[in-house]
Order: sequence, then C-alpha cells, then structure tokens
Amino acid sequence: MSDAYLNYDALKLPSHVETVLLTGAGGFVGREVTKLMLDLYPALRIITTDIAEPPRFTADSRLRVVKADLGDDAQIDALFAGEKVGGLIALHGIMSGGSEADFELGYTVNVDSHVALLKAARRHSETVLARPMTYVFISSLAVYGGDKCKPTDRVIPADTPIIPGTSYGVEKTIVELYAYDYARRGYLDARSCRLPTVAIRTGAPSTAASSFISGLIREPLQGIGSVCPIAESADDPMLDNMPVYLARAKTVFRNIVWGLCMPSENWKYGKGDRSINIPGIRVTPRQILAALKEHGGEEGMRLVSYKKDAAVIAICETWAGDYDSSAEIKQGFVVDNVETGFSAAVQDFKDELAETK
Ligand SMILES: NC(=O)c1ccc[n+]([C@@H]2O[C@H](COP(=O)([O-])OP(=O)(O)OC[C@H]3O[C@@H](n4cnc5c(N)ncnc54)[C@H](O)[C@@H]3O)[C@@H](O)[C@H]2O)c1
Repeated sequence: MSDAYLNYDALKLPSHVETVLLTGAGGFVGREVTKLMLDLYPALRIITTDIAEPPRFTADSRLRVVKADLGDDAQIDALFAGEKVGGLIALHGIMSGGSEADFELGYTVNVDSHVALLKAARRHSETVLARPMTYVFISSLAVYGGDKCKPTDRVIPADTPIIPGTSYGVEKTIVELYAYDYARRGYLDARSCRLPTVAIRTGAPSTAASSFISGLIREPLQGIGSVCPIAESADDPMLDNMPVYLARAKTVFRNIVWGLCMPSENWKYGKGDRSINIPGIRVTPRQILAALKEHGGEEGMRLVSYKKDAAVIAICETWAGDYDSSAEIKQGFVVDNVETGFSAAVQDFKDELAETK
C-alpha cells in the first residue's frame, strides 16, 4: 500500500513555531511523534518531557530531554524557562483502564496537571511570545458515550452529545473545555485532537481497555500468547458485534503533527468548537483476527485464547464503532483505507520487529 495519502509535504509549521514542547514523550505516541518531527523539521528545536526521562534520539542540541513530574507546577515552569516555545503537544496522561481503576490519580494527571500546563502556556504566550501559542491537547474519542454511542452506532458529531461513559472520558472533556475557552478568549491557539484507538501499539500492553486490539497482533507475532477479552471462543458472535474505531499508528502520528500545522482558516470546516475527531476506520475483532492469520498464519492464531473480561467489555460498550469524520478530512486530516488500513498497520509493526532484531 502506498503511503502517499499521508501527504507529509503538507506539514508546514506556522512561522512562530521554532520550538515545540512535547509532554508524555516517553510514551508510545510521544516517542513516535518526536521521531517524526525530528525527521520532518531539521531546524526545529524540540523539548521532550516525561515522568521518566524520554528517549534521547539524537545527541544534537535541537533536542532537549527533561525528566519532570507535571503534577508539580515548579517543574512545569522550568520547562519553559529560557525558551521560546511556539507550539506544544500535550500527550501525557493516565489511560482509560488506569483512570477507571484509580479515580484520584486519573484526575490529578488528566485534569489538574493539564490545567496547570494550560496556565503556564498562557503565561509564556503573554510574556515571551507576545502572541497565542499553538497548543495541541491530545484527547480521546472516549469523550463520547451515552445512548448514541454503542459499538454498532455511527457517531455523527453534530448530532451526538458528549456524555462520557468513563472517568477518563470525563477528564478529557474537562480539559477540552478549558482549551476551548483559552482559545475563545485568545489566550492560546488551542486545538483538542481526539484520538481513536492507535494500532498497532508497540511495547508493553497499556492500561487502556482497548489494549487487546493491538495485543491480538503484537503478542502472537512475537510468539507470545494473547487473550481476547470480549469473546468466549473463536465462534462467539461478539467478534462481529463489537466493532472498534481505530487508525494506523503512522496515520495518527501524521495527523497529530497536522494538528499543530493546520491553518486557522481551516476551522471553517469544523463543528464550531476546537475539538477534532482524528479520523479512523471501523474494524471488527473478527477482521483483526483475519489480519493475524494473514500476517502470522495458523501458528499466530493458535496463540490466541478467549476469556471474557466484564470490566473490558463494560468500557468497550461505551464506544461507538464508527464516526463521521468528513469535516476533519476537509480540514486536512487524512484517513486510512477502510479495506487495507488495518493490514497496513500490522505490516508496519512487522517491519519494526524485523528492524529491531
Ligand atoms: N494510544 C491510544 O490508542 C490512544 C487513544 C486515544 C487517546 N490517546 C491519548 O494519547 C496520549 C498518549 O497516549 P499513549 O498511548 O502514548 O500513552 P502512554 O501511556 O504510552 O504515554 C503517556 C505518558 O504520560 C506520562 N505521564 C503520566 N503521568 C505523568 C506525570 N505526572 N508527569 C509527566 N508525565 C506523565 C507517562 O509516563 C507516559 O509515558 C494520551 O493522552 C492518551 O490519553 C491514546
């Protein structure tokens, strides 16, 4: 499959963005967005931060790596000191399963530290930049829930209320509203990008309820067993009845960078707020297993076992299986091919495994 649709040529940074701060840079998405930006922008200075030191991909001075706990305002301020940060991508957070399991931790990280970061970005915009910083808050489609968001539903954003079905979704909604108001008042040029499930997630399984979607591919392709938590057997109708909305990891990373680049005039295609549903494709667990068979053969399939997990199913039942993202496509975000996109994501993962061997 050709990657021409990713249209990297369009990713021109606004002229005031000479330095970008990326939080959550040690995480799965943060690491890859850092690498992509290092590749795309030889003249850009990038500050990466995480609670554990993020990877130092290059020794050259355009990358500054900072270990910081963003629960501490002083550590947030230190990130901006002596810098001229024109763009920020806020990726740090506690995932859906983790936020549901630990209410206090979820709110401390997913709300309090993000509000503190927005305040610091506003101060920096006013005192150093003398213009609003371009601020990309990474949100999630988990802001949706309620009666119109069952796995078999297709969300039409304008018709679908925001009724999150999890603490994680509530936390993301709260920060989106802050970001919207900071933009409305002209403090920041804020954009909230709601990610679909990103596939295939590399590294260890996350605490996200959607973790199994990548796990059904990632573990078997490495000869490790994987449990499908939404079915009792390979014949279970749930494999067809619980579609998930996901995007190829490469597509998501590209779209996050576009979130930073998108000219303000493209808001005319949006929904009237500052929130963007990053486009994805509808895939059933049955199609995921078919891709495992295509790429990992019978050997891969034998490594999958089936055991329903009520907690995972309860969270997945609050997610719609499909979304209308025609407005975002007009805004310049790109989407995977619905027939071949998931297989391409699996191929990317296989290529990465081969490279690390
Ligand atoms: N991966 C997905 O499928 C997906 C889907 C929807 C939304 N998202 C959102 O995208 C963002 C990135 O996701 P990811 O998959 O890379 O997650 P991840 O868990 O791999 O990375 C999150 C990072 O945040 C850091 N972090 C947590 N608490 C912190 C603190 N107090 N101070 C500093 N750093 C802290 C963690 O150390 C971690 O490295 C998150 O905001 C997530 O909610 C991801």
